Amino acid sequence: MAQSILITGASSEIGRSIALELASGGASIALHCNQNLQAITELQPLLTARGCASHVMRYDLTRPDQAKSMLDEVIGLFGHLDVLLNVVGPFQYRDITEMTPDEWQEAIALNLHTCFNVTHHAQPYLCDSRGHIVNFAFAGVENIKAWPLSAAYCAAKAGVAVLTKTWAAALAPKGVRVNAICPGLVEEGTEAERKRMAEQIPLGRPVRPQEIAATVKWLVAASPASMTGSLLAVSGAWEY
Ligand SMILES: NC(=O)c1ccc[n+]([C@@H]2O[C@H](COP(=O)([O-])OP(=O)(O)OC[C@H]3O[C@@H](n4cnc5c(N)ncnc54)[C@H](OP(=O)(O)O)[C@@H]3O)[C@@H](O)[C@H]2O)c1
Repeated sequence: MAQSILITGASSEIGRSIALELASGGASIALHCNQNLQAITELQPLLTARGCASHVMRYDLTRPDQAKSMLDEVIGLFGHLDVLLNVVGPFQYRDITEMTPDEWQEAIALNLHTCFNVTHHAQPYLCDSRGHIVNFAFAGVENIKAWPLSAAYCAAKAGVAVLTKTWAAALAPKGVRVNAICPGLVEEGTEAERKRMAEQIPLGRPVRPQEIAATVKWLVAASPASMTGSLLAVSGAWEY
């Protein structure tokens, strides 16, 4: 039976790289986006060329009912779910002293509630398949410190780290593994912007999206069965 994989936020750069990396294993991949349908429909022929069946879906995952509809759609189509990749998590820069309650709630909903909503509705299927959940935080998430320009994003991702460890413990007896990838600064922008980024990173360059994708592939396909509840930095030794 082909592996069934759900990638939320497949329209993001990292989501797209993961889909391409996992496609070569003959999996069936459900690609989720919120607004950017074009990004995932453009991805589909590349996956087909690698022998991978894919399906595109558009849902606002801040809403629990939409997360449920998404899971119903995936199970209706593929019949089972082996791997859930919770990639959604848009970064937000906002000074904590200027942030409004609406902005706070939006950032927490996008970065924390989306992860809970999807996992909540996916867990029965992952228990059936003894599957794997991979969440996304950031390198340094475990250091509690002042993040004055991105407090809501960081608080939400600290929440994702807590959810990762908690679900890992709760679902381990059922054979489900839960880990989180913690990216550092990922390559983007112009050459000059990358150079500025590189100056802050001990390795001397930003992380490539393909490196995140390769880590995800190793995690779900080749890592030891006892590896669950881990926060895995892929960051060139940079921490936020
Ligand atoms: N890039 C980095 O340097 C970096 C560093 C550390 C951690 N990370 C983490 O790695 C992951 C991927 O990062 P990225 O930079 O590639 O992503 P990104 O470009 O910020 O993309 C965010 C994703 O969230 C989706 N989204 C937005 N609102 C949504 C909603 N209401 N419901 C459902 N989905 C929604 C977007 O969908 P649409 O575009 O279709 O609207 C998009 O796919 C994130 O969790 C991020 O926090 C990234």
